[in-house]
Amino acid sequence: IRRYLDPALDLTFETYEQIESTNDFCKKLALDSKTSKPHIVLSEHQTGGHGRYGRSFFSPKGSGIYLSILLKINNDPIDPGLLTISSSLAVVKALEKLFRINCQLKWVNDIIVDNRKVAGILVEGVTDLQSGAMDHVIIGLGMNYMTDPEIFPDDIRNRAGSLRKYAHRSDVSRNKLIAVFLNEFFKIYPNYRTGAFMNEYRKRSNIIGKQVSVLVSDRVVSEAVKTIDDKGRLVLTDGTILVSGEVTKIREKGYDLHN
Ligand code: BTN
Repeated sequence: IRRYLDPALDLTFETYEQIESTNDFCKKLALDSKTSKPHIVLSEHQTGGHGRYGRSFFSPKGSGIYLSILLKINNDPIDPGLLTISSSLAVVKALEKLFRINCQLKWVNDIIVDNRKVAGILVEGVTDLQSGAMDHVIIGLGMNYMTDPEIFPDDIRNRAGSLRKYAHRSDVSRNKLIAVFLNEFFKIYPNYRTGAFMNEYRKRSNIIGKQVSVLVSDRVVSEAVKTIDDKGRLVLTDGTILVSGEVTKIREKGYDLHN
């Protein structure tokens, strides 16, 4: 990975064959971390990988990318929405740099290729138990890289996709992709709160102008999407602004509104 990494980046890597969840592992690291250097944890396989809303993230051996970035933030408040958005954009930029590929972004964190989710981002803050301050943030990336679509479990089979047809069948390409993602991530991260990249995000959004259903806490909002603003929030045509939520349905505007 280091071969392809921007030489100015000073990162610590830890790699494992099998781990429960790289995000959870980073939470433990954060509790006894003495260094302010970014820490990258990678695993070939996860036994308890999870995504947003506590859902599990399918993490089979040898075919995916499961990694977490642990950053010390010194109680500087994070903007989880914009951090998730900027990290997802970094994934897309890496994929577009390395492969001939058209990526879309499904607000907030889903990376879509050929209408299927190939990767997702999970951002989590870590609070120091003694001081009560949020002193670390973790950005987890899960990607179906060489995954054989035949092995997707039934509950995600219709939505999940893999990059198998684009990827080159070697660890070199996987490591290069990881490095290029990290390069892109650390280019955006220092100024992520400005939302300066939102035009690039909007350009790849698959929901702007569409009728969507969004799960917000335990209610569903159905409306057309006007835009995603510079703060990374979803702006609906009726004026509603959503900071976070899960888009569960996308329809062409004016079509099939009640389905
Ligand atoms: C989502 O799509 O909801 C986010 C998926 C994030 C999965 C990654 S895999 C590496 C890291 N460890 C985890 O347990 N989750 C993230």
